[in-house]
Amino acid sequence: MTLAIIGGTGFDQLESMEKTRTHKMNTVWGRPSDCIYEGLLGSRKILFLRRHGGKRKYPPHKINYRANIAALEILGATSVIGTAAVGGIGIDVGRILIPDQLIDYTHSRESTFFEGGLGPLEHIDFTHPYNDELRKKIIRAAQNKSIKVIASGTYGVTQGPRLETASEIQRLAKDGCNIVGMTGMPEAALAKEKGMPYATIAVIVNPAAGLTNTELVLSDMLSVLSESGKTCAKILKAMED
Ligand code: HPA
Repeated sequence: MTLAIIGGTGFDQLESMEKTRTHKMNTVWGRPSDCIYEGLLGSRKILFLRRHGGKRKYPPHKINYRANIAALEILGATSVIGTAAVGGIGIDVGRILIPDQLIDYTHSRESTFFEGGLGPLEHIDFTHPYNDELRKKIIRAAQNKSIKVIASGTYGVTQGPRLETASEIQRLAKDGCNIVGMTGMPEAALAKEKGMPYATIAVIVNPAAGLTNTELVLSDMLSVLSESGKTCAKILKAMED
């Protein structure tokens, strides 16, 4: 298996990845967010791509998700894991959650490879947006390292780049969302269209809007990630083939 990792906010490099090659890619969908690093994590070959590009160049709604997934496919990725910094809806800051469901609240994003003209139309089955086998591998790896993760939950994907209102979060909570972030879609659907097993490791970096009395500021979120990012890397390194 060649594992591709799409690093989200605060996950600009993969601790202990030994880089062997750098790929500058172009696809029929345009250029991915950044160059793609090939290398070794332990003995496993991996590909690593920063979702937002260098210096957080692309906000969530401007990311070329199609080019990212297409470029990883061209380079031979057989599974994709995206990391995500998210807000917690009733889940404590610092915890890690491996979602098994999502609700898509985004709009106006290029969200499919089935554009007509470039191949036959298909309506993919998206009942289970995340690959269960890959999710279980992540959960097992965490257990082997005695890292506690929440093994399921629903990721509400919002448009951003602004954070939500308190009422929007109440609505997401009623809908059954446990975490909220901005980049889970269309990434998951595009990977599914390509037949690539996909999973997400979500790090809760703040209580979602209205669930705390303090203002939500990016620098606080990033400081949570400096520790939790390392924990994610440990989990990824411990994954079995
Ligand atoms: N909402 C949406 N996206 C986020 C949040 C949040 O509270 N925290 C980190 N990414």
